[in-house]
Amino acid sequence: MHRPADLHDTTGRRRALSFFVAAAVSAVSGSLATVLSAFALRPLRRADPSPWLRAGPIADLSPNTPVARVVSVRQADGWYRARTNRTIFLVWDGEQDVRALSATCSHLGCQVAWNADAKTFRCPCHGGVYAADGRVVSGPPPRPLSALPVDIRGGEVLVQLAAEKR
Ligand code: FES
Repeated sequence: MHRPADLHDTTGRRRALSFFVAAAVSAVSGSLATVLSAFALRPLRRADPSPWLRAGPIADLSPNTPVARVVSVRQADGWYRARTNRTIFLVWDGEQDVRALSATCSHLGCQVAWNADAKTFRCPCHGGVYAADGRVVSGPPPRPLSALPVDIRGGEVLVQLAAEKR
């Protein structure tokens, strides 16, 4: 038989134990929720500025002749990460100015090539033709080739791809 004082002690201990278990579960689940939400939302909060990508030394360019370069760019889409290669053209004016043009046709996205004889960019898909400065000469392209931001540091040409102007 339990005495009334023992019964009171047992009930009090049960309540205290229940309280501590509930407090511990709340603390652990709150911490876990904070960590998981921070982890899940991280890609949304991190807006990487477009990086400057190395496109080769200016000394390798010939005046007023577009030169193709392949630059490697990191892509992030949520948790997906990958590296892709993109072709661009660098056009040096023979002095201090370098222009960078995307090689992606503004019509349906095929890659254009420089035709040195005709001094134009030609798109193999639907016959789009662009001038050396990227203007549309003929064919279906609705816009010029995208001009890319360029910087020159220590004789190296740097370009930004994410900020392509259309
Ligand atoms: Fe270049 Fe159509 S994709 S002309």
